Amino acid sequence: MEQGQSIFVGNIKGGVGKSTITAFLYDYFRTCFPKRPIQMLDTDRQGTCFELLGSVADERDIRHVPVSDRFDGLSLVTLDSIMRRMRSNAESLTIVDTGAGWPGNVWQIAMMCECIIIPTSLSWADLRPTVEFVREMDERKESSGSVTPHLIIVPNRIPPAQRDLSAISKILEGLNVVLAPPLSDLSLVRQMSGEFRGLGEARGTRFYSEFERLGDFIRDYVLSGKLSQMFEAELQNSGSS
Ligand SMILES: Nc1ncnc2c1ncn2[C@@H]1O[C@H](COP(=O)(O)OP(=O)(O)OP(=O)(O)O)[C@@H](O)[C@H]1O
Ligand SMILES: [Mg+2]
Repeated sequence: MEQGQSIFVGNIKGGVGKSTITAFLYDYFRTCFPKRPIQMLDTDRQGTCFELLGSVADERDIRHVPVSDRFDGLSLVTLDSIMRRMRSNAESLTIVDTGAGWPGNVWQIAMMCECIIIPTSLSWADLRPTVEFVREMDERKESSGSVTPHLIIVPNRIPPAQRDLSAISKILEGLNVVLAPPLSDLSLVRQMSGEFRGLGEARGTRFYSEFERLGDFIRDYVLSGKLSQMFEAELQNSGSS
């Protein structure tokens, strides 16, 4: 049976742009796929993304399901059942925002998803925990033997004049990740999170074209299944040689 799709946004490091990217991705996808049911689940106690989308989304399409590090079995069960229900509809798309810190039991939810979007700046303070997070997620993936969830690094808050991302590629060398198109550090983004009105509000700006490039990348490589085909082909090749 064909399943619905889901995207998990996470990083143990706080303040890297998880909620901002989740909110804009939600808005990007509902424009991109007007006929698909799209839902955003906010698992962070702070509910930042839930609040951001409050003024633009239908209340049935966004949910705050806080799951903390402490034992909080009930919400996890709720989250798990919402995810399974959404995924049983082949047309559906679910985007999950998470809080900072180790995902605890929420990693089980991450493993159901097509990808984990991992935002990070280029600073060491962000990159070090990001690499730790990637290693942990990759180990979990390896024990499940699946090519998904794809681990997608999104360089965020990049100084607008910086074009060279070779430093980050070097740090990520040898890790099983895919580098997505970057997002610059732009004051417009901070302004727009003050009163969120969606991506359309930024039309004609640098942020709009950068975000569109990121959204297109996720649509064309992750949701289309192309990235999975590439990884599976690589696995077969390495198995047969
Ligand atoms: N590309 C960007 N340019 C400028 N500011 C940004 C950018 N991305 C995020 N920000 C700002 O950085 C701050 C932190 O972003 P956000 O709340 O999305 O991070 P987070 O990872 O969800 O944090 P937390 O771990 O607390 O949940 C916000 O003020 C947001 O407006
Ligand atoms: Mg957040």
